Amino acid sequence: MHNLVPAELYSDHLAEIADRTAQALAATGYDALVLHSGSLRMVDFDDYPYPFKAHAAFKLWAPLTDTPDCFVGYRPGERPQLLFNHPDDYWHKATPLPASYWTDGFDLQAVSSLDAARKALRHGGRVAFIGDERGFADWGFAAVNPAALVTRLDHARARKTSYELACLAQANVLGARAHRAAEQAFRAGASEYGIANAFMQSISVREQELPYNPIVALNAGGAVLHYQVLERSPPPERLSLLIDAGAVHAGYASDITRTYSYADADFAALVARMDEAQLALCAGVKAGVDWRDLHLTAHRLIAEVLHDAGIITVDAEVAVETGLSAVFLPHGLGHLLGLQVHDVGGTLASPEGGVIPRPEGHPYLRLTRVLEPGFVVTMEPGLYFIDSLLARARAGAHGRHIDWARVAQFAPFGGIRIEDNLAVTAAGCENLTREAFRTSS
Ligand code: GLY
Ligand code: MN
Ligand code: MN
Repeated sequence: MHNLVPAELYSDHLAEIADRTAQALAATGYDALVLHSGSLRMVDFDDYPYPFKAHAAFKLWAPLTDTPDCFVGYRPGERPQLLFNHPDDYWHKATPLPASYWTDGFDLQAVSSLDAARKALRHGGRVAFIGDERGFADWGFAAVNPAALVTRLDHARARKTSYELACLAQANVLGARAHRAAEQAFRAGASEYGIANAFMQSISVREQELPYNPIVALNAGGAVLHYQVLERSPPPERLSLLIDAGAVHAGYASDITRTYSYADADFAALVARMDEAQLALCAGVKAGVDWRDLHLTAHRLIAEVLHDAGIITVDAEVAVETGLSAVFLPHGLGHLLGLQVHDVGGTLASPEGGVIPRPEGHPYLRLTRVLEPGFVVTMEPGLYFIDSLLARARAGAHGRHIDWARVAQFAPFGGIRIEDNLAVTAAGCENLTREAFRTSS
């Protein structure tokens, strides 16, 4: 699957990452960097591990997602070193030494233990370490996860290389294929668990290989933002599906949400209106746009949808100013996406640090930066009927601005979220998700 990304894109990517890292090391006073893929965490008092998640800063260099205790060593001017963990262990099957489009970029060496890795690393000068904090205190590093260096590297990660864009596009192709399978399972009457399995089976992955636990919510479950249950039985009545699930390619994630009405025309019309609003917001994405402004525009658009559907009785402007729109849309419009689903650096003011504040009254916005070419963001407006927020609204000043009969009509459907992944360009953006749905089968 990895050979879908041309090798030359990777070598340019590696050169860019090396250059970026050299500059960050020079600016923060280090001579070299060591990155660790992460350690296996064992369940207490037992001998099996929690699912392994490779450290994102390591994956930026090498797309090794399933091998703990590997190291990348980089000293500006030298070829990077990759120490590959290959223990002599009869309990587990050792991962074979990688040979792929990316391995030529490294001096690759198998190591059979942490001790061997420690000896094989090229020491000398002030070496910074990024990775798991535990277990490396006595390895002689000048610093472990030094904030100044980590911040510079995090800030730069928002701008994706061409290789990263290709990986994210491929993660969307897989995600779109799996979403189609999930929709079919929904229409055929599957349970939440059955839909999740259809999603995974269609792209041959197990749950721990997904970028995040899939959110598969039938009916009112759609109102729970991070709904984590997978009911084993279908509900007696099938109304709606909200599915938020993604796939991974070479360590890069897609993060995609779709909402479907099973048969109800009014809910289908509301989904269609949300889809129009989402596309209008996507059309506003380009370099130079402050994401905070787009988030506030989203509130106005959703308030219009609510007003036109007869759910609220005041006009959009008033609904945004008074906080009424936040009763129905209580999360941020989107976030950076990449090696992590919620990628790092979304609120960083500069490579040196500092925080760009969120707009008042919008505490969950994860991205406050001005968009630049190469950023990849999610666009995920939502509209939900959340019991606890509605109860609070009903008891307060918003109560008389809501049509409670309309709320009662829609509440059994849960809510709507439509989420695409966008690659920002100078003039606009490329919608990786819609493109993937268009081209995948
Ligand atoms: N899947 C989590 C999110 O959309 O941010
Ligand atoms: Mn999502
Ligand atoms: Mn998201």
